[in-house]
Amino acid sequence: MLSIGVDIGGTKIAAGVVDEDGGIIAATTRSTPATDAELIEAGVADAVAELRAEHEVVGVGVGAAGFVSADRRTVRFAANLAWRQRPLADELERLTGLPVVVENDANAAGWAEYRFGAATEAKHMLMVTLGTGLGGAIVLDGQLIRGGDGFAGEVAHMTAVPDGQWCGCGRKGCLEQYTSGTALVRTAKRRAAAGDPAMGPLVQAAGGAKKEIDGPLITRVAHQGDPGAQELIAELGTWLGLGMASISSLLDPEVIVVGGGVAAAGEMLLAPAREAYAANLTARTHRTLAPFVLASMGNRAGIVGAADLAR
Ligand code: BGC
Ligand code: NA
Ligand code: ZN
Repeated sequence: MLSIGVDIGGTKIAAGVVDEDGGIIAATTRSTPATDAELIEAGVADAVAELRAEHEVVGVGVGAAGFVSADRRTVRFAANLAWRQRPLADELERLTGLPVVVENDANAAGWAEYRFGAATEAKHMLMVTLGTGLGGAIVLDGQLIRGGDGFAGEVAHMTAVPDGQWCGCGRKGCLEQYTSGTALVRTAKRRAAAGDPAMGPLVQAAGGAKKEIDGPLITRVAHQGDPGAQELIAELGTWLGLGMASISSLLDPEVIVVGGGVAAAGEMLLAPAREAYAANLTARTHRTLAPFVLASMGNRAGIVGAADLAR
């Protein structure tokens, strides 16, 4: 039985036909302005039409970066996208004629890592995705946890700093503002704008254009050995470890899977995260420290997880 998984990201829509073992047997993408709900839906429908022309599919699963209703049909709210009470499943069913299930993007990716990726050995998993936002997925006793409204796992909007940085959700001090791709780039740009010499190599790598600094550039310069870029990533890791320590005291996961674009920083991110985690975890000498591991499915996870949940 085949289904289609769709991952709606900030700049592009990625879709694929997925088999029961989590394999992608055909894939396509569409570029879309993330600011227009109707254009996003048209892009998804177009990608689905292309894929189903060649493959018999039973339905469509869509991963969306926002607060998805418990019935998995409506995006009620999104901190970083234009969705407000958007009946995404209804609209896509109308456009495609196929059954559609909507799931939070990180839940979809986390489900894929749990079923087919980095956490197949675990029953209790926490996954976080560091990209534009900070995504979270909770699997306990083999179940993806959704909660009453469907909003469980919104790691991003736990308060990290009372009265801290403004967040896209309208609050201040959310964890996403300290550990995400957005946080990484903002800090780098701020420090560069202030003339911080530690940002010199980064600015140089951006061809002198401070505004051009982005996440992949920071990661690349850090991999090349620049201490300034490495420090930016380490700071993110420290926040990540601190946040995960709080979550672990509540959920006690066996493994913490780290994905999203910033995960390309690898050990430069994970090592400080592990350190801050251990330093802040309650009862640490009496428990198993959950390992931090990198997501293994990369940008395929969203597609595979959404497709699997649609089946
Ligand atoms: C949103 C989540 C989303 C995450 C990653 C957060 O800002 O609140 O719903 O999963 O970003 O895209
Ligand atoms: Na989630
Ligand atoms: Zn927030």
